[in-house]
Amino acid sequence: MENHKLAAAIAYRLLNQTKHSSKKIIHQRLLIPNFSQLNPLSSTSGFTRHASVPLKRFLASYRWDLQKSSLIRMQNISAIHHRKFGSVASAVVQRNPNFSTINNDDLIYFEKILGAKKVIQDHEELETANTDWMHKYKGSSKLMLQPENTTELSQILEYCNSRRLAVVPQGGNTGLVGGSVPVFDEVIISTRRMNNIISFDQVSGVLVCEAGCILENLISFLDKKGFIMPLDLGAKGSCQIGGNISTNAGGLRLVRYGSLHGTVLGLEAVLANGSVIDMLGTLRKDNTGYDLKHLFIGSEGSLGIITKVSILTPPKLSSVNIAFLACQDYISCQKLLFQAKRRLGEILSAFEFLDSQAMNLVLHHLDGVRNPLPSSIYNFYVLIETTGSNESNDKATLEAFLLHAMESGLVSDGALAQDFSQASSFWHIREGIPEALMKAGAVYKYDLSLPVEKMYDLVEEIRTRLGSAANVVGYGHLGDGNLHLNVSAPQYDDAILSQIEPFVYEWTSRHRGSISAEHGLGLMKAEKIYYSKSSETVQLMASIKKLLDPNGILNPYKVIPSSLSSSSIEAYDKVSLLIFSNVQDVHMKSQPTICKLPWSTF
Ligand code: FAD
Ligand code: MLT
Ligand code: ZN
Repeated sequence: MENHKLAAAIAYRLLNQTKHSSKKIIHQRLLIPNFSQLNPLSSTSGFTRHASVPLKRFLASYRWDLQKSSLIRMQNISAIHHRKFGSVASAVVQRNPNFSTINNDDLIYFEKILGAKKVIQDHEELETANTDWMHKYKGSSKLMLQPENTTELSQILEYCNSRRLAVVPQGGNTGLVGGSVPVFDEVIISTRRMNNIISFDQVSGVLVCEAGCILENLISFLDKKGFIMPLDLGAKGSCQIGGNISTNAGGLRLVRYGSLHGTVLGLEAVLANGSVIDMLGTLRKDNTGYDLKHLFIGSEGSLGIITKVSILTPPKLSSVNIAFLACQDYISCQKLLFQAKRRLGEILSAFEFLDSQAMNLVLHHLDGVRNPLPSSIYNFYVLIETTGSNESNDKATLEAFLLHAMESGLVSDGALAQDFSQASSFWHIREGIPEALMKAGAVYKYDLSLPVEKMYDLVEEIRTRLGSAANVVGYGHLGDGNLHLNVSAPQYDDAILSQIEPFVYEWTSRHRGSISAEHGLGLMKAEKIYYSKSSETVQLMASIKKLLDPNGILNPYKVIPSSLSSSSIEAYDKVSLLIFSNVQDVHMKSQPTICKLPWSTF
């Protein structure tokens, strides 16, 4: 290993911006250097180091090839866009006839309590709010309400409940399972105006804010205070903390900071009948009876609308290192994870993986992205981030880990981020995969929790089943046992779908995995819940739903299977499958009774 030289510069990943609008997504990192970290000359292990360079030169990034000691210039990342498509395989559900439709009196009432500007009927705004991020699910709501505070939201829900008007809560609308958009004409209740930070306690690190705060804004706010959010995800420029909590989003830092069930200390939520439930505690410990906030974490807007949150935020630590590594096979990735957990221990803050198919998609579809390890084709790539408070120790620990991984043959090649730009470009490869998939064509997206040792077998089995018909891509949060299995095809095709489902769900169930690791069930998987939950558990869920939302107005057709939900009534005599060939035609067929549900076979 004497000839191997590690570029041991420190990269500080401050924040990553993803902007998402109805038209395009801007995916860009804003990296603010911490100059104390930029002098990596002091070696702790005899490796050659690169001097820090002036900030302007960070516009270019460099790679230190561990094998060949060559520096390779990389391009900057530019904006990326997404395009529309729908699905050919569609199921049909019927609108619950118990729900009312909006009339003029309703509009007059809403304008009276909210004022006209928060009662949205504009066609373009509704078009955006009716369509999900993937452009797969589309409702036909004629009304979006944008309350500014809990009182307004409570009045809206009380009224909707009394009128049997179904509603869909909407945060940043970045959800990936069709949960955030109406299925039919549900009233969209957007939390976008509820975006105030209420308080921040420097000693405890407890942040209290309204549900509509955009995650990235919270990250920026906390950065100035010397803290970070305990969760981070590629959609941070658009998603809201209320949406994050409602989906129990996992993301890129879960391996370090745990799930929102641990970091959310309190919530305020409004029930379907308008009652405001104040559970907005800020205490770490509170064992006074049932901890009901957990019901709302991950319930995808089916039990209530979250209006305020209190969350424990970790301090920002000064030393962050990012390595992008290549492995020849999946077993090496697994062994690397095993080693990373032991050797990096408490400083490990991300362990992400992607296969060569995912890498190729990103390289092909995202502008300005280059493989940091281009000298050979590798089957797998792993991104490791460490975050700690002792710069020299952390560096030495990571270097020793990488050296050992190289020597034992687990890692074939690798690069350590030298600067902010490089760190950003490494992260962009991983975080850009969903966007690249969108650009590649139709995507069948599965988000699975599986035992790490079995995880990639599923990808290979699906690949074998599909042959050349589709590109099967595997990536995800390996450190959390979370596989993102995506099947990319030129267009939706029922022959492809029938090769994937129910196989993928049965396989996951057989290996005692979860069919939703972090994205939720939404509309896409409401009927699939039994693959991961016992019928007794699902029955109890339905009872809780009935108790909190007896009329079933909150996010109907989602999460709970139709056979058990209040919205699945006797009049639902049949649920049938239709095939549509026009992928853009995702509108309701005959308003208001039939809706197309993309690529779900009920
Ligand atoms: P929305 O999409 O608006 O809503 C999601 C669900 O929550 C819906 O059912 C909605 O009805 C409900 N909801 C929203 N706000 C409220 C509220 N205040 N009260 C009650 N219910 C509400 N997810 C991950 O877990 N990990 C990732 O790493 C990740 N990466 C992503 C990367 C990209 C590029 C994209 C597009 C998505 C990613 N997601 C990820 C999925 C998505 O971003 C998350 O699920 C996110 O938490 C959704 O937040 P949102 O504000 O956009 O919620
Ligand atoms: C991710 O980890 O990139 C997100 O969960 C989105 C996806 O699965 O595509
Ligand atoms: Zn994910």
